[in-house]
Amino acid sequence: MKSHAVAVVGATGLVGRKMIQVLEERKFPVSSIRLLASRRSAGRELPFAGAEHRVEELTPSSFKGVEIALFSAGAAVSKEFAPHAVRSGTLVIDNSSAFRMDAGVPLVVPEVNRQDIFTHHGIIANPNCSTIQMVVALKPLHDRWKVRRIVVATYQSVTGAGKKGLTQLEQEVAGCTTGEKKFPHAIAFNILPQVDVFLDDGYTREEHKMVNETRKIMGDNDILVNATCVRVPVWGGHSESVNVEFERPCTLPEVREALRCFPGVVLQDDPQQCIYPMPVHAWEKDPVFVGRLRMDPTVPSGITMWVVADNLRKGAATNAVQIAEEWIKGR
Ligand SMILES: NC(=O)c1ccc[n+]([C@@H]2O[C@H](COP(=O)([O-])OP(=O)(O)OC[C@H]3O[C@@H](n4cnc5c(N)ncnc54)[C@H](OP(=O)(O)O)[C@@H]3O)[C@@H](O)[C@H]2O)c1
Repeated sequence: MKSHAVAVVGATGLVGRKMIQVLEERKFPVSSIRLLASRRSAGRELPFAGAEHRVEELTPSSFKGVEIALFSAGAAVSKEFAPHAVRSGTLVIDNSSAFRMDAGVPLVVPEVNRQDIFTHHGIIANPNCSTIQMVVALKPLHDRWKVRRIVVATYQSVTGAGKKGLTQLEQEVAGCTTGEKKFPHAIAFNILPQVDVFLDDGYTREEHKMVNETRKIMGDNDILVNATCVRVPVWGGHSESVNVEFERPCTLPEVREALRCFPGVVLQDDPQQCIYPMPVHAWEKDPVFVGRLRMDPTVPSGITMWVVADNLRKGAATNAVQIAEEWIKGR
């Protein structure tokens, strides 16, 4: 199998480090790896495939000879540097929100819309972490019963806010209240009904992402989504309560079977035994875990489910590496 020259932009961040780990775990065919971050990290060394690799400062010329670049350094960095990568002939797989809603940029979750990968013009966008796990669980249901409306509440890990979010929780749990703050309030022993900034309509940008990205990935602009995104003091992954209304009648055994058969979903649904998805179990795993399945008695056809995934893996690094794998396979 041909090997590829790969770059990881944002290599020192939570997602970037997970990307390096996932590339190695999945035996991605890497001929060389370039680890890129800000000037602050230049010269640091990070392990990959049994050797230490020096982190370099990201510059416009970083992409010479690079075939695939996995970006996870924020939207501003992607907007500035992804065009340089594309001009060098590099395929960019971007984890930030910079290009997700651009018409010429596919927004891909391989289990849902793999075919969109091959429509790219140099950039493929990785969706928002909360959206990824929700659409993986929704796809087999949408195909069979057509989703009309979704009401979702998220319980999002501090790791979704990068290393500063994780550090704030760790410092507050240790009793230190003077460190740099990522969140507008304490996160230890607290929950914040705010992820990202508020927009004029009272919803946050994260909530808007869940609406718009779900429609784009599912290829259906008629799906109605109402999201409330909440930050919670956990680090294993994001949890979501997802209430779905369908156009056609379904039964619970049928829904269970559709989810059980779908790649990337693991059903954990035995509530009498206290078996349901939780972030402590999803941590460091790739599937999307679904449980607490029940009919919604308030609509003609609808269900409520509990969906959990490791946001750093399926919500970011694993999904990005899967896109690269599918691109290689399908070229
Ligand atoms: N965390 C998640 O669950 C998640 C999920 C999906 C998508 N994402 C997206 O992935 C991106 C990274 O998230 P994260 O959680 O990994 O954040 P993070 O832990 O804060 O890491 C940020 C990374 O970006 C690098 N960086 C910052 N400014 C830079 C610059 N000017 N030039 C080059 N590199 C720069 C940092 O390098 P230094 O170490 O040198 O500062 C670091 O490697 C964000 O766009 C985020 O929205 C995150």
